[in-house]
Amino acid sequence: MTTDILKAVELTKAYGHIAVLKAVSLTMKRGETHAVIGPNGAGKTTLFKILSGEVPADQGTIEFNGQRVEHLDGYKRVRMGIGRTFQVARVLNEITVLENMLIAVEAKRRQSGEVSRWSFRIHPSDATLDEAAAQLASMNLESVATSIAGSLAYGDRKRLELSMSLALGPELLMLDEPMAGMSPSDRLAAVQTIRNVARQQAMSVLLTEHDMDVVFALADRVTVLNYGEVIASGTPEEVRANQRVRDVYLGHEDQHA
Ligand SMILES: Nc1ncnc2c1ncn2[C@@H]1O[C@H](COP(=O)(O)OP(=O)(O)OP(=O)(O)O)[C@@H](O)[C@H]1O
Ligand SMILES: [Mg+2]
Repeated sequence: MTTDILKAVELTKAYGHIAVLKAVSLTMKRGETHAVIGPNGAGKTTLFKILSGEVPADQGTIEFNGQRVEHLDGYKRVRMGIGRTFQVARVLNEITVLENMLIAVEAKRRQSGEVSRWSFRIHPSDATLDEAAAQLASMNLESVATSIAGSLAYGDRKRLELSMSLALGPELLMLDEPMAGMSPSDRLAAVQTIRNVARQQAMSVLLTEHDMDVVFALADRVTVLNYGEVIASGTPEEVRANQRVRDVYLGHEDQHA
């Protein structure tokens, strides 16, 4: 088995006459946490959409676990082990936090063959309930477990979405600004949870984030996009020391927080 979990080669995308991604390449080793950073409009979300199958690239190839996936629909990529969260949180707003989490945990248990049919609505098993409670606790969400998800503050919905994606246990998890809208203490808890889950489950994580404290606390490698082009890629230290990166992005970090 290849040690690369993801290999994107020269992905190119234009919307009309605007080139949003220009031959962007990105390779991730299994178990790696990789951050894509860059100014607003650099193309980070577009790259995530292309990797997850939400929009097609105009050109370029994507290998996941050694298999070409660029022609596969998004749901097939999810089945293969690619999970993602969205820049604007997506959870089921009409049901409770716990019910949202039960869906994620049960989906995971079904995927792994532990349960053969959906049962949580009628009678969730103790194992499903226990795991859902543990997942909520790891993201400090236990106090809002019985609240309707749509009534939560935005930062709490973000944490619920993140915690559901972690519970699903994908091989590769893509997080588009997972900490946006969270308080500093919730950010810290989320960083710790992502790091623990990634380590325990050997999960590979690709994230975009404007909070450089989060990036440098989590990422093994960093790729910097600017106007749809990769202008640097390397360890956090290498990227932080790169003059061009400082000029176009890190020099005015405050603006992007
Ligand atoms: N569906 C679309 N149609 C036309 N232009 C688009 C579309 N989606 C994105 N763009 C443009 O593509 C560029 C990159 O957008 P993208 O959302 O990928 O940036 P980003 O790096 O995620 O920015 P941010 O940090 O603000 O989230 C922007 O100029 C944006 O206006
Ligand atoms: Mg974005």
